[in-house]
Amino acid sequence: MTHPADPEALESLVGFWLDTGMIDAREAQALGRMGQQPAPKAPSPRAPRGNKPPPPRLRGRNPVAEARQLAEAAASLESLKKAIESFDGCELRRGARNTVVCDGAYDADIMLIGEGPGGEEDAKGLPFVGRSGRLQDKILASIGVRRTQNLFISNLVYWRPPGNRDPDPEELAICAPFVQRMIELKAPKLILPSGRFSAHSLLGVTDGIMRLRGRKMTYSHEGLAAPIPCVPLLHPAYLLRRPADKAKAWADMQTIAKLCDELGVKRDAPL
Ligand code: URA
Repeated sequence: MTHPADPEALESLVGFWLDTGMIDAREAQALGRMGQQPAPKAPSPRAPRGNKPPPPRLRGRNPVAEARQLAEAAASLESLKKAIESFDGCELRRGARNTVVCDGAYDADIMLIGEGPGGEEDAKGLPFVGRSGRLQDKILASIGVRRTQNLFISNLVYWRPPGNRDPDPEELAICAPFVQRMIELKAPKLILPSGRFSAHSLLGVTDGIMRLRGRKMTYSHEGLAAPIPCVPLLHPAYLLRRPADKAKAWADMQTIAKLCDELGVKRDAPL
């Protein structure tokens, strides 16, 4: 057992347990405190929030219905992006510097969906531009997938959760109509959920990411013309903590490259 006096080793171990589904977010948080890490100020992502009264600003409003109405009214990705930027029904927005909607090629066949913006993304207003985003770019470029050419990137929520905690169920529910509409308008041939949290939210499964990664699955929601092929990836933040597992990420890239060829998905020559 790692000694709690070694916070880096403990953090890495806890991250591994979390990503493999051996422990849940609450247990990870408790273990994090053992390692003297700052306790997240926000409530546990699994804490039930059903009875929480809405903040005064949202009293009498139904932010999910508002989001749905705005999302349905958007007829293009550009207008959906503007609608999200104008939406003030998600409390996460109050602590964020920027709204982080999407990046990459609007006509790409591949859509990658992460969890939510981190610090650098919040500062720059773009998804996956921090250390983990740069690693993800490199891994995908190994099979000729690049955001400048053939990749479209977004997240489950558009504002940075405080302390980089996971988004809670209410925040996810409020952003979900936008995520769904973005997938409808984008109509990708392949979806790549980045990390356990995104895979669980998009696919409605609960298996650990080590069972899901590299697996050919399908994404679907009511109203979508046809299910979309989907392959969950290890999150790059996890790979930064566990560099030894990069080999698994490279193996997953080979699966994705093959699938792209089968599906007629556009990609460039590999690096
Ligand atoms: N992690 C994510 O899941 N999304 C980002 O945009 C950045 C880091």
